[in-house]
This record gives sequence, structure tokens and C-alpha cells, in this order.
Amino acid sequence: MVFKKSVRKVIDVENEFLVELLGFQYGEENVARLRELSGKVAWARGWPQDDRAFWNAEAFMWRHKIEKKMREMISEELAGLEGGRNLDIGCGAFSYVRSVGFDMSEKMLQFNERCVERVQGDLGERLLFVEGEFDSVTAVFVLNYVTKIRELLQEIWRVLKQGGMFVVVLSGRGVNGWQGQKEVNRFSFLQWGEMLESAGFEVERYEKEGLWFLKAKKRLG
Ligand SMILES: C[S@@+](CC[C@H](N)C(=O)[O-])C[C@H]1O[C@@H](n2cnc3c(N)ncnc32)[C@H](O)[C@@H]1O
Repeated sequence: MVFKKSVRKVIDVENEFLVELLGFQYGEENVARLRELSGKVAWARGWPQDDRAFWNAEAFMWRHKIEKKMREMISEELAGLEGGRNLDIGCGAFSYVRSVGFDMSEKMLQFNERCVERVQGDLGERLLFVEGEFDSVTAVFVLNYVTKIRELLQEIWRVLKQGGMFVVVLSGRGVNGWQGQKEVNRFSFLQWGEMLESAGFEVERYEKEGLWFLKAKKRLG
């Protein structure tokens, strides 16, 4: 294949950004160089402050960021939802059941093999789905990154069928390290339960291996 010079330059910068990103995962202090390169890569522009760029960059290593054993345990807990139409909000590069995947990061969506449909969007805005469209909604390691929680809970209630399930999974320890910079709330387990109750859900909650599970059933409006 013959590339024009300008196209080749874009590919070179993108490759360089990815190589630097890999170094960063191994503890190299190359943030200044990454910032500089990110300005020349469309999907990374504004990294790491820009949320979309941040999660796009995380997408390349996402498979290795959550232990396989933990993924298997969550998949078992969510297995009951399989077969219905599930919306996985903040799906990242891995959905635990086959889902309509929703995420702000196009790279995360690209790498997610469990999506039957991929929708790029912002959880801070109205969801572009019709009322009662889903049998279930899942949010795994996501709600701690969302600012307008109450508005989002209303939207989830709206897109769920009567009796539909909303399943939330969160780390009981919160998020530290690199991704911690994107965390915008840290409610207690009890507070999450109360927020879901007041948004019109009947909530069952339990802890397992350091994770919080909230299984919320849509009550009649
Ligand atoms: C910690 S990852 C979790 C990914 C996946 N659920 C998992 O368990 O592997 C958080 C995901 O939420 C997405 N996200 C964060 N804020 C968002 C927002 N406001 N709108 C849409 N997606 C968002 C990120 O792009 C990222 O893919």
C-alpha cells in the first residue's frame, strides 16, 4: 500500500504515542512527551485531562487491568441477565453479558467483543434510547466516574422495562492509582442503596470478594 507523506506522518505519530504509552504502563516517567504527542493524535487529543482521550488510551491495555478471576466472578453474578436485551453503560473493552455497549471512548467500544451494538455517548446526557427498551442495564466499575448520578438513575429507570433489573458493581475500596484521577464521587455502600431506592428501584445489595453488588429492580412508576 502506498501512503501519502502526510498520512504516513499521522501513523508515525500515533505509533510513537502508543510506544510511549506502553513505556508509561511499565513505570516510565514520560508524561510530558505523551502530552506533546497526544496533541497530534485525534483520539488522544487532550490526554490525560480530557476524559475521552484518557479512556481511549486506557483501552489498549484494558484487558490486563482487571484480573481474569475477578472478571469470571462478576460474569457469574451477572449470568442471569444473559438472553435479555442488556444495556451495558460504561462498558469499556469488556462486557460481562452480551450487550448494547455504551461508552464515551470509541477505542474501548472497538475492543469490546461482547457488544451486539456499540453506542458512543456521554452518561452525563440524556440517553438516546426509547422508554422500556431494555430488560436490564449493567454498570460495572462506572458510577464512581459519573457526576450527575441522580439524573442518570432517572434515565436508566426510563429505558428499563417494568420489572427490569439494574445491576451496579463497584469496588468497595474505591479507585486509587492512575484511574483514581477520574473518580468524581465516593459514596458509601448504604448511600448507593438509598439513591437507587429513591430513584424507584427495589434494591438487594451484597458484598463479595471486596466488590459491592447492587441488584435493583424497577418498581412501578
Ligand atoms: C473503569 S472503566 C470500566 C469498564 C468496564 N465496565 C469494565 O468493567 O471493564 C470505566 C468506563 O466508563 C467509561 N466512562 C466514564 N465516564 C463516562 C461517561 N460520562 N460517559 C460514558 N462512558 C463513560 C470509560 O470510557 C470507561 O470505559
